[in-house]
Amino acid sequence: MKVLRGAEVFFEGALQRLDLAFDEEGIHRIGPDLDVDGEVLEAEGLVVLPGMIDAHVHFRDFHEAHKEDWETGGRAAVAGGVTTVLDMPNNDPPAVTPQILREKREKAERSPVDFGLFAGITPENLPTLGELAREPRVVGFKLYMGETTGGLVIARRSLQREAFRRVADTDKVLAVHCQRPGRPEAEDVEIALDLAVTTGAKLHLCHLRTREGVQLAYEAKRDGVDVTLETCPHYLYFTEEDARERGTLLKVNPPLASPEDRDYLWEALAEGVIDLVASDHAPHTLEEKARPYEKAPFGLPGVETTLPLLLDAVSRGRLSLQRLVEVFSQKPAERFGLRDKGRIREGWRADLMVVDLEKRLLLRREALRTKCGWSPYEGFPLRGWPVRTFVQGREVFRKSED
Ligand code: DOR
Ligand code: ZN
Ligand code: ZN
Repeated sequence: MKVLRGAEVFFEGALQRLDLAFDEEGIHRIGPDLDVDGEVLEAEGLVVLPGMIDAHVHFRDFHEAHKEDWETGGRAAVAGGVTTVLDMPNNDPPAVTPQILREKREKAERSPVDFGLFAGITPENLPTLGELAREPRVVGFKLYMGETTGGLVIARRSLQREAFRRVADTDKVLAVHCQRPGRPEAEDVEIALDLAVTTGAKLHLCHLRTREGVQLAYEAKRDGVDVTLETCPHYLYFTEEDARERGTLLKVNPPLASPEDRDYLWEALAEGVIDLVASDHAPHTLEEKARPYEKAPFGLPGVETTLPLLLDAVSRGRLSLQRLVEVFSQKPAERFGLRDKGRIREGWRADLMVVDLEKRLLLRREALRTKCGWSPYEGFPLRGWPVRTFVQGREVFRKSED
C-alpha cells in the first residue's frame, strides 16, 4: 500500500486536505490523517488530481514508428500527467480489422500508459462493425468525413449514413472528423448532427475550432441530441495568423482559426459549452515538417504539453481547476465508458497524478519524451507541472529536479 500524505486532494469537486491510500487494486481509503501502514509519499504543498484522460492521440508505431511508438508515446503521456489515452485508427496499417486491433493491443499493453482504441471505418469494413465493437479495448469508432493523414475517408453521404446506423447498433461512440478541406466547419458539423439525429448514434465531434461549429453543436445538445464537443490546445493557443508565420510547424487538420474563434473557445470551455479537451497528439518529425508546405504532413504533437498548458491557464484565471478536471478527466471517462476512472473515489482505480501548481518552467525541447522530438509550445513559460504519475497504483513518472 502507498499513502500520499499532506496534499490537497481534488475530491468531490474541491481541493481538500486529505490522505490517500492506494495500491494496484485501486484507491482504498481517502480521509484526513489516515492511520494506514504502507509506504508514505510526502506530498506537502502539492495537489493530487485524477489521472488525465486524453481522448484523442495518434501513437503511430507499426510502419510509422519513426514518428512515435507506444513506448515513447506512453512515456510522453505519463510525463504530462495523462494516465489513459484513446488512440485513433489512421495508422499504417489502419486499425480497421480485428487482426490489426489485436496487434495494436499487444504493443499498447507494454506501454506505461493505459489505453482504449478507436476502430476505423472504411467502405469495405462496414458490415463488420459489430464484430470490431466486441474487440477488447475498443471504446468507439472514428469516421473521417474529409481527406487527411492515413486516407481513411468516407465521403459519400449514403455510406456515412450506413456507418452511423451500424455504429448506433453497437452502442459505441462515433467520433467524427468533421472537416472537408476548404469547407466551413459548421457545414460538416450540421451534416454529422443530422445523421446522429436520424440514426440515434452517439456522436463525438472531434477538434472543434470555430464559434459557428461549437454553437451549432451546443444547440443540438441542448435540444437533446446525444453529442459531445471536443476542442484541442492548439485551437486555444494558436490562430491562422500564427500558422502563416510558422508555416508547416502549425500545419494541422482542421486548420487553425481566427483570433475571435480562439477567444470564444476559452469562454465556451470555461462555461461548459465544450465538454472536453484532447490533445490530438499527431507527431511528425521535424524532417517531415521541413518539406515544402504542400508536401508537409498535417499534425502537431501535444500529449505531454496539454496538462501543463491547462494548469498554466488555471494559474492565469482563464479556467478553474474544477473545469480542468472535468474537461480532461471526468468527461472523457464518462463519454467513453472508462469504468472507475476520471474521479478520485474509494474503490476506483488508482490512476493519479501529483501536481505542483507553483512550479514555473520554460517548456524545453530537451525535456520532451515524444519521439518526434519537438513541440509547437517550446519556449512557453508555464506555471503548474505534473511531478508524479501513477497508473493503476504503479508510479510511472517522477519529475527530476530541473
Ligand atoms: O493534423 C492532423 N493530423 N489531422 C488529422 O486528421 C490526422 C492527424 C495525423 O494523424 O497526423
Ligand atoms: Zn481528425
Ligand atoms: Zn486526430
